[in-house]
Amino acid sequence: MTSHQTEFCLVQEKGTWTRSERCQVKEGKVSDARIYENKSEQGVTWTVVSPIVFTYRVIQCRDLLDPSNDTLLWGHIGDEELQSASRNDSKPVKRFVVIDETVHELYGFRLAHYFESRRVVSKILPLPTTEENKCLELVAKILEELHKFGIDRRTEPIVAVGGGVCLDVVGLAASLYRRRTPYIRVPTTLLSYVDASVGAKTGVNFAGGKNKLGSYVPPVASFLDCSFFQTLPPRQISNGLAEMLKMALMKHRGLFQLLEAHGRKLLDTKLQPSEQDDSAVASTSIAIETMLEELAPNLWEDDLDRLVDFGHLISPELEMTVLPALLHGEAVNIDMSFMVYVAHLKGLLTAEEKERIIQCMKGLELPVWHRDCSLDLVQKSLQERLKHSAGSLRMPLPTGLGHAEIFHDMIEDAVLCQVHQTWTEELSPTGNK
Ligand SMILES: NC(=O)c1ccc[n+]([C@@H]2O[C@H](COP(=O)([O-])OP(=O)(O)OC[C@H]3O[C@@H](n4cnc5c(N)ncnc54)[C@H](O)[C@@H]3O)[C@@H](O)[C@H]2O)c1
Repeated sequence: MTSHQTEFCLVQEKGTWTRSERCQVKEGKVSDARIYENKSEQGVTWTVVSPIVFTYRVIQCRDLLDPSNDTLLWGHIGDEELQSASRNDSKPVKRFVVIDETVHELYGFRLAHYFESRRVVSKILPLPTTEENKCLELVAKILEELHKFGIDRRTEPIVAVGGGVCLDVVGLAASLYRRRTPYIRVPTTLLSYVDASVGAKTGVNFAGGKNKLGSYVPPVASFLDCSFFQTLPPRQISNGLAEMLKMALMKHRGLFQLLEAHGRKLLDTKLQPSEQDDSAVASTSIAIETMLEELAPNLWEDDLDRLVDFGHLISPELEMTVLPALLHGEAVNIDMSFMVYVAHLKGLLTAEEKERIIQCMKGLELPVWHRDCSLDLVQKSLQERLKHSAGSLRMPLPTGLGHAEIFHDMIEDAVLCQVHQTWTEELSPTGNK
């Protein structure tokens, strides 16, 4: 069978796009998209290759709710766009805000005051955005209210203020509303500050599975203000430190040393920066930078080899099984602790390195073992991951302090059994150690 392929560029002149075998034009523009036309005796196949670019900003700032601070209203657009927006638009600014109910009790007054002072027409919608409620009904509720309020989807981004649950649910609603409406993330927990705010994923739980429904649509911007951490309970601080430790173990020895040496202080000060001590700023900045390095080239997770999945092989099943007993970061930490034992057994970590990591976890007041993390659950979770990993398991494991590799071989049951036994003996409250 003979076939013939032609590559076409797309050229726009006076508003009309046409295919062209030449990619240069005197006037008009050339798209990055291509159409490949393949003719054979059977007919024609057109293959469209259309690169889609996402641009978003992650902005660390202070006093986000101070009415003199422009960030909340305009941080998502550049200075030039801002100048042209204020020149061309005389209508009042509108914002639709979804806020976690608890955060609303603590900060709702200041948020309302911000919008009043800035003469913004706003709708503030407090919702119980808990892990148990992280489902489609909550998305539908947001969409109904959004529709009633009405926004201009080109210029009035939806704003989500809360922890990772709120940001994930609002992100999904925004990605559905009129097929994709811009949204802004304002994280108020440490976990969502260093993790859920910096990537593209949105989602809700479905059919008993964690984040089974979702989309890859990043916000137009995330505004990170660490002063929200002051009202977090200590357990929530530890929860966020788990995701920071993940990045430390995978790719940054310096971050590991910071968490190891300053963990207690970070917990006590709730990562509030001070002139005498920059460990909070340094550690959150490294966590975000290392996370962005891993996410930006793989925003849609086409590449299944992801270091950021460390701690996320067993933890989704564990978290959902015991819900609400474990927080997300706690479940991740138990998974990481188990995998540290796997890495040790495989000869990737020395006994001393393993011990330092476990001590660091304990110092951050994170659980390192859980009775429901049974051998059966571990085996089932890994089988489940295997199903979605294109034929081979992709298991990130530490290969020293601050570096890692992805391993593709499934761990044999006998090895898993041995690791689980040692892990339980050494770390369970009734174990030998
Ligand atoms: N999209 C992503 O890439 C991504 C990454 C990591 C985690 N997640 C998701 O994030 C979720 C976990 O996020 P989380 O740990 O922030 O939990 P969360 O959203 O449930 O918030 C934790 C608790 O803290 C309260 N809270 C929030 N901010 C507060 C504040 N400033 N002061 C006092 N209380 C406050 C909330 O009311 C809630 O009870 C999980 O569902 C996980 O799947 C998503």
